[in-house]
Amino acid sequence: MARRKIIAGNWKMNMTPTEAVELINTLKPLVATDDADVVFCVPAIDIIPAMEAAKGSNIAIGAENMYFEEKGAYTGEISPAMLTDAGVKYVVLGHSERREYFAETSETVNKKMLKAFEHGITPIMCCGETLTQREQGVTMDFIRQQVKVGFLGVTAEQAATAVIAYEPIWAIGTGKTATTEQAQEVCKGIRECIAEIYDAATAEKIRIQYGGSVNAATAPELFAQPDIDGGLVGGAALKPDFGKIVNWK
Ligand code: PGA
Repeated sequence: MARRKIIAGNWKMNMTPTEAVELINTLKPLVATDDADVVFCVPAIDIIPAMEAAKGSNIAIGAENMYFEEKGAYTGEISPAMLTDAGVKYVVLGHSERREYFAETSETVNKKMLKAFEHGITPIMCCGETLTQREQGVTMDFIRQQVKVGFLGVTAEQAATAVIAYEPIWAIGTGKTATTEQAQEVCKGIRECIAEIYDAATAEKIRIQYGGSVNAATAPELFAQPDIDGGLVGGAALKPDFGKIVNWK
């Protein structure tokens, strides 16, 4: 069975609640499709107004982060129950910006993965190498470690529903998209890693996105690759271009 594509926007630290509603109203007709899952991952404060603005459309609202405890003295954090109560179905975990600026490690990402599944939230777990790692030829070793640690204790049944976003750090926000061959090669390697951890059936089901300067021009070729099941889109998700990316065919 062919995997359904999932195309997600990662808004990062952009859009006030007012701007979020405006953007969703602009994009709503442009991202309408029956062929793919469309997700807008938005800043926490935008979640409720975004949910309201997206009502009745095919847009699902996701979060950009979540903490791994249920509740309590964790000033500034957002709990899984806060997300599910607001109707959130997806959460981006372990984005390279969170790993780089907010000290996230594969271990904390793993705790968040387990918590997300416990609450029925689908994680979009990010992984990806630096330029130095690519030049040193250790891309796949590094990513395999991120995936293996991220999925520790996750059951095959849960893993089959997860989303992994392969985002080479050197391609994020730089305008440098990985070549289609590079993106496909790593996404295939990630699928093989999932097959090793679990089994072929789980690897067949898990969805793997490519992210890093995806735009309307590069999306069609990337999304046509056998192991690329959609994209995690930053900059271009804030523009009408996102409609073209979603309707890439
Ligand atoms: P970009 O961001 O599309 O702006 O490169 C992608 C991401 O970081 O998810």
